[in-house]
Amino acid sequence: MEQLKTVNLAILGVGTIGRAVVRLIHEQSDRIAEQTGIQLTIRYAMARSIERVKAAGLRPEQAITSAEPALADPNVDVVVEVLGGEEPAASIMHAALERGKHVVTANKEALAKHFAALSAIARANNRALLFEASVGGGIPLMASLRQILATNRVSQLRGIVNGTTNFILTQMAEHSTPYHEALQEAQRLGYAEPDSTADVEGYDAAYKLAILASLAAKKQIHPENIERIGITQVTPEEIAEARRRGGVIKLLAQATEENGTWRLRVAPEFVPGDSLLAHVRLNFNAIEVTGDRVGTVVLYGQGAGPLPTASAIVSDVLDAIRFGGALTPAIAPA
Ligand code: HSE
Repeated sequence: MEQLKTVNLAILGVGTIGRAVVRLIHEQSDRIAEQTGIQLTIRYAMARSIERVKAAGLRPEQAITSAEPALADPNVDVVVEVLGGEEPAASIMHAALERGKHVVTANKEALAKHFAALSAIARANNRALLFEASVGGGIPLMASLRQILATNRVSQLRGIVNGTTNFILTQMAEHSTPYHEALQEAQRLGYAEPDSTADVEGYDAAYKLAILASLAAKKQIHPENIERIGITQVTPEEIAEARRRGGVIKLLAQATEENGTWRLRVAPEFVPGDSLLAHVRLNFNAIEVTGDRVGTVVLYGQGAGPLPTASAIVSDVLDAIRFGGALTPAIAPA
């Protein structure tokens, strides 16, 4: 049998997503090894306390309470950053790339705000900076975008990129569920951010749109340049009125480039019933990408939830090992 390549991981964060990554690796590592020849090993897991790491199903000797031991260990190949939030996540990713580790992240806020700097340090060190899980959960969106962008100029991106708000709007429209009840259910299902303001006020969608638009523009587009309106002011009456008009209200993220200028907006919008986006329900996301040669491509799947997100993260880990720094996009500063 072919010799397995052992890959040592440091998983930073054992919240909802971190725990799902640990579980996926524990349950699937034999199958992954068989399919790819890569044996994934969790060398470290970082949390605020050793107890939290143990509660995630790991041994105490794998537990760290700061990133430093993982960054200092030359045997760590890939750092999986699932801490969330801008800091310390952005600084840790920077340090990990500087020390020659590949970085896989699900962190849309840190990436959207520091995309150019992180991509530059990754490329300078010939390391992978991969972030499939940061937008669209389990949808193979970045892989598809990479392919489209290789041969197309992309001048429009449009879609539903937040699972929590889409779940809430679906429940309000289809079952007249009160807003707060639907939000609690989204939290229980592991869709919502630790502070759900990020979801319902549209910040999360704006970070994701900034990442997508930066990739299309090949230049950092800052989230503060995105007009943003959340769903907290959407009333049951407006939802009923949209139904009477034959459509639904969706939180849409839209980026359009004209003569080198990008217009970006996240806001609740009326979507006619005959549009594909009107049929994107619950925690699902759909992103329309329009290229000058391929036309419009729609990518659809579960945009939030521990299992789809963990699936995207572990795929990125495998890609980081197989393809390395070649996959890191070049993003110029704004
Ligand atoms: N809170 C996010 C959402 C998680 O609901 O879409 C996935 O990025």
